[in-house]
Amino acid sequence: MKIAFMVGSLREDSFNKKLAQAIAARLPEGAEAVWIDMNVPLFSQDYEPDSLPDSVHRAVAMVQASDAVIVVSPEYNRSFSGVLKNMLDWLSRESVGYPLDKKIGAVAGASDGSIGTAVMQSHLRPVLAHIGMDIVALPEVFVSVPSRMSEAGEPNERMTKTLDAMIENVLHRVASK
Ligand code: FNR
Repeated sequence: MKIAFMVGSLREDSFNKKLAQAIAARLPEGAEAVWIDMNVPLFSQDYEPDSLPDSVHRAVAMVQASDAVIVVSPEYNRSFSGVLKNMLDWLSRESVGYPLDKKIGAVAGASDGSIGTAVMQSHLRPVLAHIGMDIVALPEVFVSVPSRMSEAGEPNERMTKTLDAMIENVLHRVASK
């Protein structure tokens, strides 16, 4: 089983990258994490249908080969990042065969704010639903740094349980598909 990770921050020391790595590290045996390179050109319809960038082709192939996609984003100005929106726009198109349609997924996010990306996620979930993703509703993974996860990327005990519950729910959804 393959679980793809989409991380909406390009920052070298990103909390969201660390959160995604913490989730990946807790996947059970038999579930492999794969990482989608988010550094793709800004979407333009001028690329469609015949001039799609190689990096977009690679992202599409990775999603197609994955059983589920876990989307992890920072909260920028109370919404999700432009980096993530750009990738979602690419992957929402007929020109790439709608790879996220009916794809099982889950959402998580880390921020330095006290409500840990809750507002971002309330914007993101309807967008993913519009694209056709089958997003696991619970648990909600709102990671406030440093209270729920250290700056080094160590989730606290309560958050570790939440991450395990998210993984379990995603794998259960995949198994019952
Ligand atoms: C932020 N940050 C932020 N935090 C938050 O809780 N709510 C918000 O609306 C915003 N808005 C925001 C906008 C922009 C443009 C930036 C750069 C930052 C702070 C943000 O949570 C913090 O920088 C995180 O470290 C970003 O995530 P990564 O890059 O560490 O994964």
